[in-house]
Amino acid sequence: MIPQPQNIEFHKPLVLGGHAIIGGTMLAPMAGMTDDVMRLLCGEYGCGMAVSEMVSAKGLLMGEKSCELLSVLPGEPPLAVQIFGHEPEVMAQAARFVCQYRAHICAIDINFGCPAHKIVRNGEGSALLNNLPLLGRIVGAVVKASDKPVTVKIRKGFRQGDNIAAQAARIVRDEGAAMLTVHGRTTEQGYSGKADWAAIAEAKQAVGSSLIVIGNGDITDSRSARACRAQTGCDGVMIGRAAIGAPWVFADRVPDYKERCAVAERHLRLEIEKMGERFALPFMRKHLVAYVKGLKGAAKARGILMQQINAEAVIAALHNVFSQEEAELNEQQRS
Ligand SMILES: Cc1cc2nc3c(=O)[nH]c(=O)nc-3n(C[C@H](O)[C@H](O)[C@H](O)COP(=O)(O)O)c2cc1C
Repeated sequence: MIPQPQNIEFHKPLVLGGHAIIGGTMLAPMAGMTDDVMRLLCGEYGCGMAVSEMVSAKGLLMGEKSCELLSVLPGEPPLAVQIFGHEPEVMAQAARFVCQYRAHICAIDINFGCPAHKIVRNGEGSALLNNLPLLGRIVGAVVKASDKPVTVKIRKGFRQGDNIAAQAARIVRDEGAAMLTVHGRTTEQGYSGKADWAAIAEAKQAVGSSLIVIGNGDITDSRSARACRAQTGCDGVMIGRAAIGAPWVFADRVPDYKERCAVAERHLRLEIEKMGERFALPFMRKHLVAYVKGLKGAAKARGILMQQINAEAVIAALHNVFSQEEAELNEQQRS
């Protein structure tokens, strides 16, 4: 059964390039995870907008398989395509290409947050946090080349102790960007420690209503979404890891086990439809393990999910673990 859209927040929607971002909630870009199928499922649970996995600007222009990452399913929430690179002209050309190739997207997003060594050593992703003048030139060039709004995603700084969020917010606003997402961690932190929401607040304070600011980092449910908005004054929130194996995080309710199982199965079946069983089973491993995380039979089910014998065996294991949990819950309620 397809769930009814419900949002964790109800307030005046943000608008980006004519697209309403209902609820002000977004799915974060996550390489290898947030493909068209995951974005579709999150949208069905009320996610207001999604950002694609990052795509290399150079790769796009050379016609590499990066183009596959631009695949979009009907019914997805408004989508921003995220590009990364360090040369303003290459980034501008890539933005132009994406705008032509995917005319219905709502924005071009620029990645200035990726901490991966192979990206940073090329001066791309979060390396640009160490070079704000170049970061600004990239934003300006992409804004000029793009007929869609340009959005930007940063971390709060590169080194432990850095905080360039407010300065970067002013720069990207002055270069014509429409929205800035601040992940409250430094590159050196990776994903460790706690996200510093104060950096998000400082960015918002620096630009006021002249730039949409989105808070990101450690938002895991409606309560933390509201807390982040209240503490920072940000205009919306972006959720990443908490949506893996739980696209319902965007809804203000936790579905029962039957529904969760049905969503996991549908996720798998849609991936099989897209890429075939041989590729879909290994691809879905991380997702399926996340869907069953915390359930009592998860450890046993994980074995089968990892073996990936065939789709039907995997689906049977899913049904097993969820129905066992449901039976135990019913038992507890009876006694
Ligand atoms: C597996 C994974 C892949 C990611 N890929 C990207 C990416 O392609 N582009 C990007 O801007 N951020 C990427 N991120 C960072 C997330 O978008 C987000 O900023 C981060 O996970 C913090 O938010 P969270 O606490 O809600 O997960 C990735 C994170 C994870 C865990």
